[in-house]
Amino acid sequence: MRSLLFVPADSERKLEKGLESGADILIVDLEDSVSAANKRAAREMAAAFIAGRDRASAPALYVRVNDLATGLTDDDLAAVIAARLRGVMLPKSGGIDDVRRLAVKLRVHEARAGIEDGATRIIPLVTETAAGVLNAATYATGEPRMEALTWGAEDLSAAIGAQATRDADGRLTDVFRLARATTILAASAAEVPAIDTVFPDFRDLDAFRRSCEEAVRDGFAGCMAIHPAQVPIINEVFSPSPEAIAEAEGIVAAFAAEGNPGVVAISGKMFDRPHLRRAENLLSRAGKSAGA
Ligand code: COA
Ligand code: MG
Repeated sequence: MRSLLFVPADSERKLEKGLESGADILIVDLEDSVSAANKRAAREMAAAFIAGRDRASAPALYVRVNDLATGLTDDDLAAVIAARLRGVMLPKSGGIDDVRRLAVKLRVHEARAGIEDGATRIIPLVTETAAGVLNAATYATGEPRMEALTWGAEDLSAAIGAQATRDADGRLTDVFRLARATTILAASAAEVPAIDTVFPDFRDLDAFRRSCEEAVRDGFAGCMAIHPAQVPIINEVFSPSPEAIAEAEGIVAAFAAEGNPGVVAISGKMFDRPHLRRAENLLSRAGKSAGA
């Protein structure tokens, strides 16, 4: 899961374009990109779009529902679950309890639609409220449906009354850097991938590439997009390079050749268990099983 492209559910044109974007996942949005007046039509369009697609073919389809406090979530789920989606993105998640509340709802909707229990996965947006950031440690207690964690800056900024999320040089300010770092730590503690948030300035692709490179450096496994032009950059930057794959394979092979010791030397450099773990993670991101 490298690239996750948001598509407003009430735009047939963008839904179709999303299919050609090369994104690993399309997030069909019923929340912030759809006006209140359009929610009902958007649900129907989302359901028709998803039902007309083969679940096995790329991109995988997620739906972002409206948050649990809106009173809209159940109607969102009732409209789309029968169409068989890969998962549901939960905005403004306040902690693992909200993920569990959604999981219970999914169980009911799956049963009604004759879909296997647990088939629909969940990705929560974990930093859209102040309480959400402070409760992020709770995700470590886990919920089997949870496939990844991601974060958002705009709703948090509105919630806390910040005037901007970035400084004059384009760097995230402290609260948002904390939210970003919290997401990485919470995802790692929950043993699921961390997905970086959207980059709103969709015309500045150089700045976006830099942001993706920093995300890879810091431990994110993928990134959300709001525009198709961002997708190839995400796919490129978040796919390990052939050199990085070869190096990781060399590390795994060296440990295996020496009977899996605590530490090995390769070309005059020391590699111990954290290096091995990092190499295995990289190979699993590259779709190669470690040791193979
Ligand atoms: N998914 C699929 N296709 C998209 C797209 C998206 N997210 N964003 C743009 N496109 C399409 C456009 O329809 C256009 O296709 P067309 O010329 O064949 O009609 C093409 O890509 C180029 O779009 P462009 O003119 O550069 O942008 P725009 O002004 O039409 O749209 C946004 C800009 C921001 C409104 C649009 O990118 C968008 O809706 N993004 C998603 C917003 C969202 O979901 N937000 C919620 C999460 S933060
Ligand atoms: Mg939002």
